[in-house]
Amino acid sequence: EDGASSSGPLTGRHVLVTAGPTYEPLDPVRFIGNRSSGKQGYAIAAAAARLGARVTLVAGPTALPDPKGVATVHVETAREMFDAVDAALPADIAVFAAAVADWRAASVEPEKIKKGEDGPPQLRLVENPDILKTIASRGFGRPPLVIGFAAETGNAVALGSKKLASKGADWIVANDVSPERGIFGGDHNEVHVIRRDGVESWPALSKEDVALRLMRAAAEHVGASHRN
Ligand code: CTP
Ligand code: CA
Repeated sequence: EDGASSSGPLTGRHVLVTAGPTYEPLDPVRFIGNRSSGKQGYAIAAAAARLGARVTLVAGPTALPDPKGVATVHVETAREMFDAVDAALPADIAVFAAAVADWRAASVEPEKIKKGEDGPPQLRLVENPDILKTIASRGFGRPPLVIGFAAETGNAVALGSKKLASKGADWIVANDVSPERGIFGGDHNEVHVIRRDGVESWPALSKEDVALRLMRAAAEHVGASHRN
């Protein structure tokens, strides 16, 4: 079935999901972005709803329709995403699947930047807030289960394990997005779920199946503890 069901392993839970890229404007017509399709995050939001959760999806620009039964908040920049996440808390489970732009322009030109005799513009970039790290390191109001993603080119388990520690996440879902593996933008995903007590490597699955499996594991993890 579609959308939220009346009872399931996540009934009574609030699940917050970020998905998609962020776009960071340079001027009124140009931006810095990335190739994230948003498919995996959208699938996670839909799976959580199917398992009975109340779901908030904070989504950057994608070509996908809003999942049924999910409260979807559309944002463009990393800072807008951060504010929307903050406004949606508290949550029992937070899944940070978005490919947040690491940098934005130090200043956004109010008029279209023109080609000229001065040569190409020298872009000055500043770092965006780290949404996952900020939320995961909160004492009060930290979601009981914080799940991050690590899309890596290279050793996904090693790099993902580093991120588990540096971000303060409970789980990191890591995958290898090297172009020759054809994962980015595709409909399948082969992930390693990294927890503090070990790594589970899942076979190549559809993004829907990764989502369902992840949300079933999350439901089991949060069990019968306090509900938000
Ligand atoms: N993330 C976030 N806010 C950011 C950057 C990343 O919430 N500003 C989250 C992503 O949604 C993901 C996790 O952090 O769940 C890891 O993102 P990633 O880009 O792999 O990590 P970075 O710390 O930005 O490291 P790098 O890009 O240098 O590998
Ligand atoms: Ca990054």
